[in-house]
Amino acid sequence: MEKKNIDWSNIGFGYMQTDKRYVSNYKNGAWDEGMLTEDANVVISECAGVLQYAQTCFEGLKAYTTEDGHIVTFRPELNAKRMVDSAQRLCMPVFPEDRFIDAVQKVVEANAAYVPPYGSGATLYLRPYMFGSNPVIGVKPADEYQFRLFATPVGPYFKGGAKPITIRVCDYDRAAPHGTGHIKAGLNYAMSLYAITDAHAQGYDENMYLDSATRTKIEETGGANFIFVTKDGKVVTPKSDTILPSITRRSLMYVAKEYLGMEVEEREVLFEEIKDFAECGLCGTAAVISPVGKVVNHGEEICFPSGMDDMGPVTKKLYDTLTGIQMGRIEAPEGWIKVIK
Ligand code: PLP
Ligand code: COI
Repeated sequence: MEKKNIDWSNIGFGYMQTDKRYVSNYKNGAWDEGMLTEDANVVISECAGVLQYAQTCFEGLKAYTTEDGHIVTFRPELNAKRMVDSAQRLCMPVFPEDRFIDAVQKVVEANAAYVPPYGSGATLYLRPYMFGSNPVIGVKPADEYQFRLFATPVGPYFKGGAKPITIRVCDYDRAAPHGTGHIKAGLNYAMSLYAITDAHAQGYDENMYLDSATRTKIEETGGANFIFVTKDGKVVTPKSDTILPSITRRSLMYVAKEYLGMEVEEREVLFEEIKDFAECGLCGTAAVISPVGKVVNHGEEICFPSGMDDMGPVTKKLYDTLTGIQMGRIEAPEGWIKVIK
C-alpha cells in the first residue's frame, strides 16, 4: 500500500479529509448495521437535537505505525467505554463497545495510506462522535442519533512539539460539581472557547482550570490532564470528579510505577503546592505529554526548575516510555496495543 504524498514531519494538529469514514444511524430504538462512506458531509434537520441543545459527545484516539511496520491503536476499548459513560450522561443511546472497536478497525484499515510512517512524528488521529439528529424543539433528548468516526493525520498539538509551554490560571470555570466535566461532551469544549481564545490573545498556550467550588485545587486544561513531578521524584496527578479521566494519564501512572519504579499519587492537588514541583506536563491523546515550563497566576510567574528549553528529565522518561510502547519499541502491558494490520 502506497502512502499519500504528505509532508508528514511538518503537519500540525488540523483536519485533513481522508478517504473513508464510518457512519451508523440510530432510529426506532436500534442502531443500523453501519458502513464506510466516502461522503464527509453530514446533512441533518435544521432543528436537530445537536444543533439546538448541543446533544453530542466525542472521543479521540490515535493509530500509529510501529517500528516493525504494523499499524496499531492504543487501548481503544477505554475510549469505547468512556463514550458509553458520555452517552449515558447525555441521555443518548449507547453505541456498543464492540462496534466502536470494529469501526476503529474499519476506518484505520480503509485509510491506511494516511497513517503517518514510523519516525515521522505524526500519527493518525481518530475522532468518533455521536449526536442527536432528529428535530427537537422542546428541551428533551432526541429520538434519532448518528455515530460517526473519521480519521485525520496530525502532528503535535502544541506548535513547537516538545518545547515547554506557558499556561495561565483561568478565571473562567470549566466544570461544576455534579456537572459534565468527567465526560467528553461537546458542550464542555464550546464553553471553553472564550477562555482559550482569550488566553491565546494574552500570549498563553493554555488555561489551567481550578475547581470551581473553591478555586484552590488544580483540575486540568481544556484538553489534557496534569501530571507533576515532585522534587523527590514522585509523580502526582490531580484526582477530581470533575475532570476527564484521561486514558493517557491512567497509562502514564501505570508506566511510572511499573516500568520506571516511581512512586505515584493520584490525589487532590492544591494550587499553592505548585511552586514546590520540579516538573509539570499536560497529558492526553492530542497533547501526548507536553511539558509546561511556566504557570502565570494573575501576573505572578511560577517557573518550574525544568525551565523553558527542554522537557524535564522525568517527563522525558515518561514520554519516551509511553511513545516507545505505542510505537512498538518497548513491550506493552497485556492488551494495551491493538494491531490493525
Ligand atoms: N482532559 C480533557 C478535557 C480532554 O479533552 C482530553 C482529551 O481527550 C484529556 C483530558 C486527555 O484524555 P485522553 O488521554 O484520554 O486523550
Ligand atoms: C484528545 O486529546 O483526543 C482531545 O480530544 C483533546 C482535544 C483538545 C483535541
